Amino acid sequence: MQAIIEQLKTSVANTSATDIRAAFAADSNRFEHFSARFDDLLMDYSKSAVNKDIMALLQSLCEKAGVAEKREAMFTGEEINFTEGRAVLHTALRNRANTPVLVDGKDVMPDVNAVLAAMSDFAEGIRAGKITGSTGQQITDVVNIGIGGSDLGPAMATLALAPFHDGPRLHFVSNVDGAHIADTLARLEPETTLFIVASKTFTTIETMTNAATARRFIASMLGEDAVGQHFAAVSTALDKVKAFGIASDRVFGFWDWVGGRYSIWSAIGLPLMIAVGADNFAAFLTGAHAMDNHFRHAPFLENLPMLLGALGYYNRNVLDYATRAVLPYDQRLSRFPAYLQQLDMESNGKGVTIDGTPVKGNSGPVVWGEPGTNGQHAFYQLIHQGTSVIPAEFMIAAKGFEPELRHQHDLLIANCLAQSAALMKGRTLEEAKGQLQKAGMDAAKIDHIAPHRVFTGNRPSITFVYEQLTPFALGRLIALYEHRVFVEGVLFGINSFDQWGVELGKELATGLLPVVEGKAGTDGQDASTAGLVQVLSSLAR
Ligand code: F6P
Repeated sequence: MQAIIEQLKTSVANTSATDIRAAFAADSNRFEHFSARFDDLLMDYSKSAVNKDIMALLQSLCEKAGVAEKREAMFTGEEINFTEGRAVLHTALRNRANTPVLVDGKDVMPDVNAVLAAMSDFAEGIRAGKITGSTGQQITDVVNIGIGGSDLGPAMATLALAPFHDGPRLHFVSNVDGAHIADTLARLEPETTLFIVASKTFTTIETMTNAATARRFIASMLGEDAVGQHFAAVSTALDKVKAFGIASDRVFGFWDWVGGRYSIWSAIGLPLMIAVGADNFAAFLTGAHAMDNHFRHAPFLENLPMLLGALGYYNRNVLDYATRAVLPYDQRLSRFPAYLQQLDMESNGKGVTIDGTPVKGNSGPVVWGEPGTNGQHAFYQLIHQGTSVIPAEFMIAAKGFEPELRHQHDLLIANCLAQSAALMKGRTLEEAKGQLQKAGMDAAKIDHIAPHRVFTGNRPSITFVYEQLTPFALGRLIALYEHRVFVEGVLFGINSFDQWGVELGKELATGLLPVVEGKAGTDGQDASTAGLVQVLSSLAR
């Protein structure tokens, strides 16, 4: 692999690959040459710093790294998450073909289908008012209590599918900060509220603490006996759920081969299903399944996750760009960047390769973003003129769900396309001077002002276009990004499916709680931590 990476670096150094503006001038068919399409989903990467040779090298890199073989190992249930001794089979959760998927010789599909059927019965029962609260009133509000993968997926997707939301209102409580649950409970009537405690492990301190607060809320307002009818749970740890006191017919399981950040397709999707209904949830799974098949079978230059992963790797490790911005021109995808932060950074923020040696070069980039057009009036200044190059990923639907506001959608599209064009084209000093001359500025002032109006251009971006953000399209989009993370993980040579990096902070927090509570002294703490504890406790008095 190293030889190909060196070839890529040489190619970048010796060709004008990074002069994207010149590449467009030289090839009027660049859009056709560097875009790929899967049904209505178009990926335009013509504004990336690539040429045909570089794409061929990236294809060789993927072949050399064994992406296709590792992809099959994932889809067929091999224990690729070897540090936790687990298969990685979120794809089985959306395996609409229902073909057998074996883990340790056992087909997991019957269990997957059984949980999906139980979820559907429960969700439709809540939506139809057949399953009520303890006083017989219809459930009007559902509160999902979970964090990380047990929160971000359903929270992001519920917002994304707002036009399909015809079930009870949904609320998401994640932060251990009591303000989060207090502000949520303040808006709710206990009689008509259902809490879903969502935790893969059922040990996460934030979720367990918030669940206990919610339990007290119901018990104090409606009595201890009412608790059962106002709670449901989603977990892999069924024994722990039982100990919490949630009745078994309200517990929806999943399995250790589903990573938290890949769990939206499992029972963790229950709040989404309650919001949009079982049929729309099925369409969401179908969209992801379509992307799975595409990823598994499409040739490299037509394979969207392969291309996205290869380009992500290239931007990070050949061009050395440390971050990437995800910029949905879709207000309903406003939580998508946050969702991708967990998906991408928890998966690929690793320092050692699968053989335990340090990663050569870099692993995953910082992922961040906000929806357009809002970001344009905030941080785009830095993307256009700052000293760091930040590859951008734009996404936009051809149509919204507000035909009466078509003009606003056209404005949205115009802005999205303008941004990627501006990043690519930039504005030279000559062009800046010419504009100022036209505006009638005197020559001395032009020399002074023009440099500030220069844009270097040649700033890479990828644009995704899709027809409309339906459940199917959302499922397909999320699966696309999941597989891009997979491809990059293989190229980095890491295990994308564990997350040991979150453990140390958790351990230290557990040790610090008695110190913060004043039950233990600050002996043994570093001077900064001890000093901060003392100041906080004196200010709290
Ligand atoms: O701390 C990180 C993490 O383990 C994530 O990977 C996970 O999505 C989140 O915490 C929540 O975990 P759980 O679903 O077990 O409560």
